[in-house]
Amino acid sequence: MGPWPNDPLGPQAREIAQLYWIMFFCAVVVLAIVDGGIVYAGLKFRERPGHVAKQFHGHNFLELTWTVIPTILVVTFSVLSFQKLGDINDTQTGVEMTIPTRGQQWSWTFTYPKEDRFKLLDGTYLQMSEELHIPVNTKVLIKLSSVDVIHSFWVPNIGGKKDAVPGRPTELWLSADKPGTYKGQCYEFCGTGHADMLITLVAHPKTEYNAWAADAVKEANRLLDPATKKGRETFLSLACVGCHTVKGTTAAGKVGPELTHVASKKSIAGGVLSPVNEETLTKWISNPPAVKPGTLMPNLGLSQEQVHDIVQWLLTLK
Ligand code: CUA
Repeated sequence: MGPWPNDPLGPQAREIAQLYWIMFFCAVVVLAIVDGGIVYAGLKFRERPGHVAKQFHGHNFLELTWTVIPTILVVTFSVLSFQKLGDINDTQTGVEMTIPTRGQQWSWTFTYPKEDRFKLLDGTYLQMSEELHIPVNTKVLIKLSSVDVIHSFWVPNIGGKKDAVPGRPTELWLSADKPGTYKGQCYEFCGTGHADMLITLVAHPKTEYNAWAADAVKEANRLLDPATKKGRETFLSLACVGCHTVKGTTAAGKVGPELTHVASKKSIAGGVLSPVNEETLTKWISNPPAVKPGTLMPNLGLSQEQVHDIVQWLLTLK
């Protein structure tokens, strides 16, 4: 951290950092020469007893110097910037993987390519919120969209930032040098949850990527049990997703507790109801404020059938 670029750990971040350091170095040299000159002249030629300030007008050599040098610098910076921008904005050449990425108050959802390794039981393809998994040294194209307001996608160590604008597709590419986990953050203020709109970019060794995909697909399939499909769909279509996270689904809210393994917990409603079973879950979801006055979880006024379906699904989240 600091007022300079994070350690660049991918080709795109490296180009940006190089440009930064070239300009920074030149700026420091210019600052030293100009400020040094001012201080030197101020001391040497100042008016003092026994010394009369020299009066003169114009100085061709100096004036030429401080016109020509800055012109060369500015032109050099422009040429360098355009050159680097060409690489940074090159979302065409050598793309090996494309991941549509949707911004929504307040999470990112990544849709994996329509390839067999990402295919789920219900015929759709793997989607994940917050976590983006890619193989190392692979040029990945992120196609950005937004369903509500402007967000901005940024993983500082790996690449530049790009806005996700409603109704206007944008894209950027990423590549990571080494396996690891890299933190990212929405970079455009997008409402009260903006600070929590995080990105966790995980770069896997190429040889381990398919194993990760198989695990992720298995985990996602676990949530697709046909017997509880209706409850799952009901849950994901309601306001629940705005507050709760269920890993492997599009539910990525941060306000309420995570429900990925809710059926394995000892209690719910902050300990008010236990154990976690059909009875307690039904009681809670039907009317939370009645169970725990002042709770942030509202009474959504669900039908008995909706509550039943959701509870059946939640019970599978072990
Ligand atoms: Cu999304 Cu800030």
